[in-house]
Amino acid sequence: MAFFFLFILSLVASSATACDRCLHQSKASYFSKASALSSGACGYGSLALDISGGHLAAGVASLFKNGAGCGACFQIRCKNSSVCSKVGTRVVLTDLNHDNRTDFVLSSRAFSALAQKGMSQQILKLGILDIEHKRVPCDYKNQNLAIRVEESSKKPDYLAIKFLYQGGQTEIGAVDVAQVGSSNWSFMSRNHGAVWDTSRVPEGALQFRFVVTAGYDGKWIWAKNVLPADWKNGVIYDSGLQISDTAQEGCFPCDDATWS
Ligand SMILES: *[C@@H]1O[C@H](CO)[C@@H](O)[C@H](O)[C@H]1NC(C)=O
Ligand SMILES: *[C@@H]1O[C@H](CO)[C@@H](O)[C@H](O)[C@H]1NC(C)=O
Ligand SMILES: *[C@@H]1O[C@H](CO)[C@@H](O)[C@H](O)[C@H]1NC(C)=O
Repeated sequence: MAFFFLFILSLVASSATACDRCLHQSKASYFSKASALSSGACGYGSLALDISGGHLAAGVASLFKNGAGCGACFQIRCKNSSVCSKVGTRVVLTDLNHDNRTDFVLSSRAFSALAQKGMSQQILKLGILDIEHKRVPCDYKNQNLAIRVEESSKKPDYLAIKFLYQGGQTEIGAVDVAQVGSSNWSFMSRNHGAVWDTSRVPEGALQFRFVVTAGYDGKWIWAKNVLPADWKNGVIYDSGLQISDTAQEGCFPCDDATWS
């Protein structure tokens, strides 16, 4: 009986559990110039500052996920108890970090926000910190998911868009576009970062549908009327909806409740 119990216990301990939050141990450093991050690989440009409140982060390839990780939110705290706050801070992924010595390179504003009150100078001096991080839902309060038409778009043959203010804890895996009221969908491809494009551009006002990771698999989201017929480059359009789903991760132990 005791043997059986131990066997079950080790089975549970060795298998990954589905979690809302997995806790990861790593390191973080910071960019001395915020501009280094706002020109990031996700393609947000200066909008990176808007979507992150200045708390931008470049993540390594396993977090960047070829662009699917763009816009993901992370809670980060550092581990030096003489300078670090217990709660840490929230950052938004806006760039790819090519330096694999740290999982994250943060904006200096985000990096100093890891400090206890009055300790931000000390923390900046340390330059590189041992951290814990976990994915958390993005919460944009009264802001809907938005779609920005990129400057590279060329009516009527080419449409490039990016998603801004993506709520929840999800990744966009596929995007289709069609004329409002039509079921003739054209698929879009991820061009880079948060930017999707197509050269099969429907006429008229445009609707979008896209697949997000949610729970254990994917879910279709339908934004029924997003771009007007006279859509213009450089303009941000309200999708009329927001995402609040959470995709499950596999890990052990889970950290769903211990740390906000
Ligand atoms: C923790 O912070 C203190 C104060 O800045 C510093 O002297 C010490 O070297 C740090 N410890 C580690 C492990 O970085
Ligand atoms: C970091 O990247 C370098 C060069 O690509 C590689 O040689 C090294 O093994 C990597 N280190 C880790 C810890 O992944
Ligand atoms: C579907 O939409 C594409 C792109 O706008 C267009 O080229 C094609 O002719 C449409 N097909 C039909 C059956 O309407």
